[in-house]
Amino acid sequence: MLPAPTTPPAPGASLAIEQDVSLRPYNSFGLPAVAHTLVHVRSDADVRRLLGHPEHGRAAKLVLGGGSNLILSRDPQAVVLRVEVAGRRLLAEHDDAWIIESGAGENWHELVAWTLDQGWPGLENLALIPGTVGAAPVQNIGAYGLELKDRFESLDAVDLVTGRSVTLDARACNFGYRDSIFKQGGFGGLAGKSLITRVRLRLPRPWQPVLGYLDLQRRMAETGDSSPDARTIFEWVCAIRRAKLPDPARIGNAGSFFKNPIVSAEQCKDIIGRDPEIVHYPMPDGTVKLAAGWLIDACGWKGKSVGRAAVYERQALVLVNRGGASGAEVVTLARAIQESVYGRFGIRLEPEPVIV
Ligand code: EPU
Repeated sequence: MLPAPTTPPAPGASLAIEQDVSLRPYNSFGLPAVAHTLVHVRSDADVRRLLGHPEHGRAAKLVLGGGSNLILSRDPQAVVLRVEVAGRRLLAEHDDAWIIESGAGENWHELVAWTLDQGWPGLENLALIPGTVGAAPVQNIGAYGLELKDRFESLDAVDLVTGRSVTLDARACNFGYRDSIFKQGGFGGLAGKSLITRVRLRLPRPWQPVLGYLDLQRRMAETGDSSPDARTIFEWVCAIRRAKLPDPARIGNAGSFFKNPIVSAEQCKDIIGRDPEIVHYPMPDGTVKLAAGWLIDACGWKGKSVGRAAVYERQALVLVNRGGASGAEVVTLARAIQESVYGRFGIRLEPEPVIV
């Protein structure tokens, strides 16, 4: 960890604090919950101002990005910090890469589209992922053969106890499959302990397409275009996602609700013996990733619901809000799915979003 330049709070500048704020517009599932205290964070200095606040400075804190990977099962007791750090720019242009810097509060998809418009390709496979730039490294977002960690340079974060700003490189972020140090608790983990303010991305030059994913191979075969440019891949990814995944602006959801479970080769052989159709992907380390959507689908969950929370008809891995769902309904549905998959396959599905 390298110390980042620390800006002292400007004298007289004040914090934007609100009381009793509905969080419904701030979470993509559209769940009802109320923040007793919500603070709009626009800079590192805002965090330090909050830490010095006589009433809220030492209270527990919940960091809210785009709210696209969050299930609010009740009103959070913590002070909610909404990250709104803005701005994006080309930081450096090297022979082998463009380095882009973005405020954590910027919208992820808009950043992807903007980099393409500027002529800096490399993020196209990650198009249309809901959420903010600051949330992207937290769960190491990934889609269509690419993960954030493959394009990551570094990020700035503020410690929520000391107010110190630090810069973390990829190694320090400890990225895993939909995982990073920011989701990890305990000693050494940073879950709930820091707030990401800026993210830097490395887009390698010359650009090379990532086309290994089956859905993209299919597009290449259908269109006869075997060397698509970045713009074409961007459009393909948007079309594939729109066909499979609900648009959170219309149907509340948090993307994939469960991680794809990883099992040993032996365990997989056993499962294939019983269910030869199971969709699975051998991993480089000898383990096997199973398609959670297939497991849930095989248990007959597509279209089923608990109250107003339901399993999406077109993709069983996605839970949706049919309008007016409560967080408790979502959690009850998720538990019932976990039990049924465990009962049939002996596999414990792990939720992907953070449940509060
Ligand atoms: N499947 C079914 N029934 C279903 C859903 C899926 O049989 O209801 C089968 C599909 O036919 C396919 C396999 O399961 O053979 C995998 O499905 P898909 O290719 O749609 O991808 P996924 O494993 O469901 C993952 C990510 C997505 C990401 C896509 C594309 C996870 C948990 N999910 O989904 O990420 O967009 O691959 O790369 O890793 C997210 O994290 O929120 C997310 C949407």
